[in-house]
Amino acid sequence: MASTLRCTKTDVQFEEFAALVRARRTNLMMDRERDVDTQLVQQLCELSTWAPIHKLTWPWIFAEVRGEARLQLGATCAEVMTRQGEPEPRVAKTRTKFARTPVVLVVGSEIGDSDLRTTENRDAVAAAVQTLLLGATALGLASFWSSCPKGAEADVARFCGFAPDTAIVSMVYLGWPTDTPKGFERPAPRINRLA
Ligand SMILES: Cc1cc2nc3c(=O)[nH]c(=O)nc-3n(C[C@H](O)[C@H](O)[C@H](O)COP(=O)(O)O)c2cc1C
Repeated sequence: MASTLRCTKTDVQFEEFAALVRARRTNLMMDRERDVDTQLVQQLCELSTWAPIHKLTWPWIFAEVRGEARLQLGATCAEVMTRQGEPEPRVAKTRTKFARTPVVLVVGSEIGDSDLRTTENRDAVAAAVQTLLLGATALGLASFWSSCPKGAEADVARFCGFAPDTAIVSMVYLGWPTDTPKGFERPAPRINRLA
């Protein structure tokens, strides 16, 4: 299928694309009561797979976590934190934190057949997450890239039905925005120009 697809020049102009990139902001100010349709999440997952990928390993795997499962995901992370002796207030916060949004999309990266491939897989999945966040922004959704709590990757992978050793690249909160966060200027890129 992929080999029969033709690459066509996009009609999107640079400034339009740049505006979308700048409009994406980490935003947790979401309406937790307003659902995000599963078709939209499906669309975003499909879009994210257009990220560059070395050796066509297709390492990304997604878990769409909704409803009660958000609290179960929190409990899974909280158990690990308790086991690791983390302070109870932090553990308690983690138990309910995924209920701050209607959908949490956990994005995993499968292990490769070498250390290099595993690293490249993770790089590709990070690119897929950014693609997904930009798609979410274009749909008018707020998004938030959260890390998996330290030490909880294996438990979260199991909870999500991923293969063991799957790296948890992101736990993306998605929801309809109730407010817009203030952006901040980015420092100029450091570029070494060699000729
Ligand atoms: C790999 C990665 C992990 C992140 N993990 C967290 C996190 O666990 N908690 C959090 O508040 N923000 C997390 N963020 C979001 C950043 O804090 C956020 O992107 C940064 O503040 C810049 O804001 P912006 O996304 O609006 O540009 C993460 C971002 C990346 C790329």
